[in-house]
Amino acid sequence: MDAIRIRGNGPLKGTLHVSGAKNAALPILCATLLSEGESHLRNVPGLRDINTTAALLRFLGREVEVNCPDVKVLAPSSPVRPEAPYELVRQMRASVLVLGPLVARYGRAKVSLPGGCAIGERPVDQHLKGLEALGAKITVKHGYVVAEAKRLVGAEIVFDMPTVTGTENLMMAAALARGRSTLVNCAREPEIEELGRVLNKMGAEVQGAGTHTMHIVGKSELEPFDHAIIADRIEAGTFMTAVGVAGGDVLLENAPLEDLAAAVGKLRQAGLQIERDGEAVRVVREGPIRAVDVKTEPHPGFPTDMQAQFMALMCLAEGTSQLTETIFENRFMHVPELRRMGANVSTHNQVALVRGVPKLSGASVMATDLRASASLVVAGLRAEGETIVRRVYHLDRGYERIEEKLRAVGADIERIADDGDID
Ligand code: EPU
Repeated sequence: MDAIRIRGNGPLKGTLHVSGAKNAALPILCATLLSEGESHLRNVPGLRDINTTAALLRFLGREVEVNCPDVKVLAPSSPVRPEAPYELVRQMRASVLVLGPLVARYGRAKVSLPGGCAIGERPVDQHLKGLEALGAKITVKHGYVVAEAKRLVGAEIVFDMPTVTGTENLMMAAALARGRSTLVNCAREPEIEELGRVLNKMGAEVQGAGTHTMHIVGKSELEPFDHAIIADRIEAGTFMTAVGVAGGDVLLENAPLEDLAAAVGKLRQAGLQIERDGEAVRVVREGPIRAVDVKTEPHPGFPTDMQAQFMALMCLAEGTSQLTETIFENRFMHVPELRRMGANVSTHNQVALVRGVPKLSGASVMATDLRASASLVVAGLRAEGETIVRRVYHLDRGYERIEEKLRAVGADIERIADDGDID
């Protein structure tokens, strides 16, 4: 297994390119199931989750050519097997995104129920409730959910809470349902707007993607598409926190500033200068890091996917900050690891109190989820001595060659073999 070794050194300087958005690419790959013919996705990040989705689509009978940033998905004329097995779903919860497209397109879907994960229970009741409202018969047996419907029929669906993949699953299902659907209390993430754009390219009529209420007129058939994926706002935000921690002056190419407004506002309060510079975004941190309170919220609030990285920054702030996690019940897995690096953080339920310290010290650390791992890499950039971040497969799920990118702006970071890792 690989690990990442970081030796804390000076400020970062240079240019970083932000890749395509993982969480936009995953549902769009699943949307290829809604049509026949060949779809072409561009600006797809080279990540483990993309390979897992490709493997799932192949299992379902698609031909998939992954040559990131290009991915082609072809629907051959042979019949599909509308079934997502446990082996693939357990590797990636987002596999549940095939449920809506499969039942809408093929009248039946059998998808392994994703279990809990490191950051929380993460049920999918809203996905199932929505599909039932569209007329699917849902049964759960032996760890699998089976959804069946001759043809889904448009309906009004009111989500109990904004759910990102829940909204996406129902958008895709409604796009092939008969008649009009209204989705209320939708998640409003930019990745949902992006899926709306793709479904419209395919010939569906989706109005209001990215707002609370969406209207979708379903079609009996949809077309394949050609689409370039938007930039990854969370990767961009992670690089911003890296500059915040290490100090420096970095130009981020392809950074979606508007999609990250809440996080950028907090990073500016913390002492970063973040400004448009032509097509790119310039990120500078020269002065001290200031303590800032943050509460995660559904978009357009501060993203939960930035909480861990922001905490790494706050560990080095002058003063005390309070970070409140409201989306997932167990998303402080990075705290004990940051503490091993000398951070002064205490947690009480969903609140973390971070008392800034002047410096961190390198240590051997590991985390059990993607963003937690990213926060440890960021912290390592200014820790004295050597930090080894283990279980890099979490990072590889969502960051494309993070060590190469950070090395190019002056970080002392490399990927090493980690024979000593134990589970
Ligand atoms: N929820 C339910 N029932 C449901 C669905 C969700 O109770 O049927 C709850 C969840 O347990 C959670 C809240 O609603 O407390 C929001 O969860 P959501 O469904 O929005 O999360 P998700 O769709 O499973 C996506 C991202 C996550 C990101 C969250 C929140 C993808 C593939 N994943 O997950 O990304 O943290 O939205 O923004 O889009 C990551 O990239 O590291 C990551 C975890």
